Amino acid sequence: MAHALRITMASSIESRENEFYSTPYIMTKKLLDKISFNKNVSILEPCCGSLAIVDILKKYNYQNITYFDLFPQHEKIKKRNFFSYKEKHDIIITNPPFSKAYPFLTHSLNLAEIVVFLMPLDYLHGIQRYKGIYSKNLLDKVLIFVQRIILNESPAETVTFGNAMSLAWFIFNRNSIDKETILEFIYIEKEEY
Ligand SMILES: C[S@@+](CC[C@H](N)C(=O)[O-])C[C@H]1O[C@@H](n2cnc3c(N)ncnc32)[C@H](O)[C@@H]1O
Repeated sequence: MAHALRITMASSIESRENEFYSTPYIMTKKLLDKISFNKNVSILEPCCGSLAIVDILKKYNYQNITYFDLFPQHEKIKKRNFFSYKEKHDIIITNPPFSKAYPFLTHSLNLAEIVVFLMPLDYLHGIQRYKGIYSKNLLDKVLIFVQRIILNESPAETVTFGNAMSLAWFIFNRNSIDKETILEFIYIEKEEY
């Protein structure tokens, strides 16, 4: 029993170091209920973890999805470092490791026209982000989760509310430079969880 506990704790610490947190399914469903794309667009999920976002993209019938992770959670997932990946896609959708969100974002904007990231709402401020991204009007929409949702390693089917950071889907579009940023709210009803 003690041995099992040690293994669980070790793998948990390893996951935390890799910043593995799975995205509750409801969060991706809410995104795809608000914005939809042509079902044949090429979508990249460049740090797919245990496929929480990919599973929902497939459920919504997106046909052309590429995915990998530097620290895959299953042996069937391709191991790959996003920063050495150079292929272009129409859209990138992910929940990036937050400590690397800025390099993830700038690299993503080089590879895709539309980039959709789940990130803390706090990401809206900061000089580097302002100069590199916001002052160039690349932020098209922010979909803010009204409730604070806890991201952890629990199965993506579950959603837990609590005293966590506020999260939002940030939708960047290289072609939206003449438009104002749109702000919308996402409320999760009781019967949805
Ligand atoms: C917050 S988790 C998100 C997992 C998944 N996208 C989801 O929504 O459930 C961040 C993931 O980024 C992966 N990661 C960290 N650095 C990476 C890199 N340079 N290239 C690819 N994946 C990376 C981690 O292994 C982890 O699975």
